[in-house]
Amino acid sequence: MWLPCGCTSKYVASSFARRTLASYLHVSGRSRCNVAAFMPEAAGLEGVSGRAALRELSVSNSESFWAAVARHRLCWSTPFHTVQDCDLSRGKIKWFEGGKLNVSVNCLDRHVHTCPERVALIWERDERGSEMKYTYGELLEMTCRLGNLLRRHGVKRGDCVTIYMPTCPLAVASMLACARIGAAHNVVFAGFSADALAERIRDGEMLLLIITVNQGVRGGKVTELKKTVDTAMQSCPTVKQVFVAMRTDNPVTMTARDIAMEEVREQKANQILEIQIQAVEDVVCEPAVMNSEDVLFLLYTSGSTGKPKGLVHTQAGYLLYAALTHRYVFSYHDGDVFGCVADIGWITGHSYVVYGPLANGATTVLFESTPIYPDPGRYWDMVERLKINQFYGAPTAIRLLLKYGDQWVNKYDRSTLKTLGSVGEPINTEAWEWYHRVVGDGRCPVVDTWWQTETGGICIAPRPSDPDAEIVPGMAMRPFFGINPVLMDTEGEVLTSNNTSGALCMAQPWPGMARTIHNNHQRFIDTYFQPYPGYFFTGDGAYRSEEGYYQITGRLDDVINVSGHRIGTAEIEDVVCPAVAESAVVGYTHSIKGQGVYAFVVLKKGIDVQEADLSRQLNGMVSEKIAKYASPDFIQFAKRLPKTRSGKIMRRVLRKVVESDLEGLGDLSTLDDPAAVQEIIQGHEKLL
Ligand code: WT7
Repeated sequence: MWLPCGCTSKYVASSFARRTLASYLHVSGRSRCNVAAFMPEAAGLEGVSGRAALRELSVSNSESFWAAVARHRLCWSTPFHTVQDCDLSRGKIKWFEGGKLNVSVNCLDRHVHTCPERVALIWERDERGSEMKYTYGELLEMTCRLGNLLRRHGVKRGDCVTIYMPTCPLAVASMLACARIGAAHNVVFAGFSADALAERIRDGEMLLLIITVNQGVRGGKVTELKKTVDTAMQSCPTVKQVFVAMRTDNPVTMTARDIAMEEVREQKANQILEIQIQAVEDVVCEPAVMNSEDVLFLLYTSGSTGKPKGLVHTQAGYLLYAALTHRYVFSYHDGDVFGCVADIGWITGHSYVVYGPLANGATTVLFESTPIYPDPGRYWDMVERLKINQFYGAPTAIRLLLKYGDQWVNKYDRSTLKTLGSVGEPINTEAWEWYHRVVGDGRCPVVDTWWQTETGGICIAPRPSDPDAEIVPGMAMRPFFGINPVLMDTEGEVLTSNNTSGALCMAQPWPGMARTIHNNHQRFIDTYFQPYPGYFFTGDGAYRSEEGYYQITGRLDDVINVSGHRIGTAEIEDVVCPAVAESAVVGYTHSIKGQGVYAFVVLKKGIDVQEADLSRQLNGMVSEKIAKYASPDFIQFAKRLPKTRSGKIMRRVLRKVVESDLEGLGDLSTLDDPAAVQEIIQGHEKLL
C-alpha cells in the first residue's frame, strides 16, 4: 500500500500497487571519463576531453554520441542494434532500430520506482492560488486507469486518439495513456474551431476516439469545448466514442457516443468534492512494448500551401531529444521546478511541458491561464508561489507584460529563477533586455531557443553545452549537440564564411526530427528535402555572425507567426475566398503579437455590400474555420491586386506596402500594371 505525501490532488492514490517493471529499469554500464561530471550520458565516449570536444564529436561521430546518450538516458526493454539509418535525400529517418521501450515507463515508472512522492505536475489552474500537485505515483495511477479505460473501449496499439483539451493533468495522463498502450495521440489545441478540429480528425482515417472536457476555463472565461466537439462530430462519421472529463461542475449534454471519463466519488450540496477516473479500472496497466520507430504522436502544423500537415514523431528518438535538450539548454538539475507556460496543443507543450521534463523526472508546471489574468503579475506570482527555477515563455507575452510596467514583476519574489527561456518567434532587443534585467534581476541567462514542430526539440540555443558561455541578446547562438546547421545561398550552395545570411538547413539528421507527414510522405520530401537535396530545409532564414553565432531572421515562405502561433497565409485565403473575388494575406510587424494578419481583398463583381459588414463577416469566417488568432487585424479592399504578367500575385510588394517600406518595393518590371501598386499604397494609407 502506498500513499502520497503532501499533495492536494483530488485523485486519491488508493491502492497503488508497486508492480514496477524491473526489466525496463536496466541502464547499461556507465564508465567515467572527464566529461562525465558535466554530461554523464557521454561518459562512455573514449578520449573526449572537455565540452567543446564533446560537441565536436556529437557531429563528427554522431552515431557514437547518440548511442551513448540513448543507452544512458532511456530505459530499454531490448537494446537497439542500429543507431541510425537515415538518408536525407529520400526523407528516410530511422533511429535506434531493434530497440524496444515504452515512453510512459520512461516518463513515469522509473521515477516512481525511485521516488514516488516526487511531484510530477503542478497544475496552475486558471483560478489563481488554486494549484494542485500530482506526484509521480499519482500520475502513473491516472495514466494506468486511463490506459485500461481506452483498452476496454477497443483502442489498440497503432490506433490514433485525438485529444482536445486544455492544459491539465488529465490531458497529460491521456497522452501518456496512449503511449502506454501503444496508441498514437493527436493533440489539437483547444483554441481551434470545430472545423479545424474536424479537419485534423478526418485527415487520419484511423482516428476513432476523442478525449475532451465539458468546458474549458481560461482568463476567467468559459469555453464550450464539448459543444465544439459535438459540432465537429457532425462531419466526422468515423469517430465512435468521445470521452468527456469534467473541468467545471456544469453538466453538458451527453449523447450515445459520449462516455464520462470520471466518476464522482464525493458530492455535497451539488458541489463535486472529489472525482476519479472510473474506479473500475485497475491501477496497473501493462505497458505495450514499442519499437523505437513506432509512432508516438501526430501534431498538425501550418505550411505555406494547402492544408495543415500532420507531422509524425516516433518513440525513442523524440523522447531522447526532448529529454536531453530539456536538461542541457535550461541547465535543469534534479529537484528543479520547470515552468513552461506553453499550451500542450503545441509542440512546445509536448516537448517541454510533458515529455522532456517527465523523462528527466522533473516537476513540471501546467499553466492553464493567461499572462494577464487576473492581472499582469500572474506569471511572477506563480513563480513565487510554485518556486519555479526555469521559466520558459513566448516573446509576445513578454512584450505585452513589458507595457504594463516593472511594478507587476517587482511585487513578487523571483529569487528561485535560474534560467529564462524564450521560444516561438524572434525576441526583439527591448523585450530581451527587459526579460533579463527586470524579470531575471540581471542574474538569469536568457536562452532564446530556435526550433520547430518538425525538429521535435530545441536545435539552436545559447548555452547547450556551456553554462557560462557568452550570450548576445536576441540571438539563438549555438547549435545543440548533434545539430549541424548550414546556410544556403539562392543557388543552393553552402555558404561557408561567417558574417553571412542564407536559408537555414540542417546537414545531418538528429533523433528528434519528424519522420514523415501523416499519409503524405511525398509532401514531407517535397517540403523539407527537395529544396536543398541532401539537407533538411527549415523554412527559416538565418544570419551567422563573425563569431559563428546564429540569429534567426524569419520565414522564407508564406508562413506567418502571430503571437508565436504559426499560420499559413494560404489557409486564411482559402477561408475568405468564397466571399470575395480574390484575396492575398500577408504578415506585418505588430508591436505585441510579433506579426499581425493583413488581408487584401477584391470584391466580387456586382456585389453591393458595405465594407464594414463584409469585414465583420470575413473575420467571423476565419475565427470559425480556423481560430480567433488567425482573424485579420486589417482588411483592405482593393479593386485589383498587383500581379506579374503571368498572373501571380506579387506578395513581396504587398509585404513592403504593409510595412510602409516604399523604398524597398524592389524590381517592379515584371508587374502587369504598375497603377495597381499605386492604388494599393493609397488604400493602405487610408486604412491606417
Ligand atoms: C517556427 C516554428 C519552436 C516551438 C514553437 C513554434 C519560428 C521558433 C524561434 C526563435 C525566431 C523562431 C520559426 C520556426 N521560431 N522559435 N527562437 N526565434 N523564430 O513551433 O509552430 O512549429 O513554429 O517558429 O519561424 O520555423 P512552430
